[in-house]
Amino acid sequence: MSEEVRPVVGKLQPPNDRAPEPRAVARRFAGRETLEGAGVRLQRMFGGSEVPLLDPFLLLDNFGSTNPADYLAGFPWHPHRGIETVTYMLNGRTAHEDSLGNRGVIDSGDVQWMSAGSGILHQEMPKRTEGRLSGFQLWVNLPKRLKMEDPAYRGLRADGIPVVRGSDGRVVRVIAGEHDRVSGPVTHIPVDPTYLDVSLPAGAEYSRPVPRGYTVFAQPFEGAGTFGRATGSDGPAAGSPGETLLFGDGDRVEVRAGDAGLRFLLVSGRPLHEPVAWYGPIVMNSREELLEARQDLDRGTFIRSKRVIQEI
Ligand code: CO
Repeated sequence: MSEEVRPVVGKLQPPNDRAPEPRAVARRFAGRETLEGAGVRLQRMFGGSEVPLLDPFLLLDNFGSTNPADYLAGFPWHPHRGIETVTYMLNGRTAHEDSLGNRGVIDSGDVQWMSAGSGILHQEMPKRTEGRLSGFQLWVNLPKRLKMEDPAYRGLRADGIPVVRGSDGRVVRVIAGEHDRVSGPVTHIPVDPTYLDVSLPAGAEYSRPVPRGYTVFAQPFEGAGTFGRATGSDGPAAGSPGETLLFGDGDRVEVRAGDAGLRFLLVSGRPLHEPVAWYGPIVMNSREELLEARQDLDRGTFIRSKRVIQEI
């Protein structure tokens, strides 16, 4: 029997493949006024009380003020272990310095993706800014197997972050993950994150695929819009600054900008499904590991590795 050569029609898909399902907003979190560090006034969008809803994300702070008294006290020397901290400066500058001698400034549009691993002591001090100082700090959990690895820094300058512009005026900054086949510079992060800063003009619609099973949230910070598909008799969820929107499961996210346009962070990551033991800036898997960290701090043995990997 000879083999017939046929043109391939359509994509090869498993027979049980179904149409991509857009995600609906499952939960929303209102930011809480919080005093952090040595007295920085900020909005905690989510944190300890939301664990594990946002797994692998632990905390999101939105700092922003035109009054230097709200931020100049900064975040003096403090430890981190077991997590990654991601600082995105929207406007203004923050000086940082760590116990291993690294120092620098995170400027407007810059991102610092810091993996604390087994331990680092650092300080983060916002500098006096004309007008508004603002930005975000996201905490990303590390899997158990990597919590005690060497610390690593990724310092990204604003001009090293790809900007994808659409013909309608939309602007997408790709910090991690991919947008329209453009990859962000932050790669090889254990939870496979996407971190996008999306600006849409009035009325624009934005849609993208997301892996099923991943945690996805949107953080609007300018303008307003609607997020996710309609559910039952309810339309898509309205979202505006001051609230974080967590999507339920599905294959796509859909967003529509309101009349004043919309700017939001879109963040996704693979959940770890591991126990979370949290003590301030240290997040491990068990109480014993937290006690060990506290003993290390008391004894001056907190820094396990002098090696800091500097990437990018
Ligand atoms: Co810190």
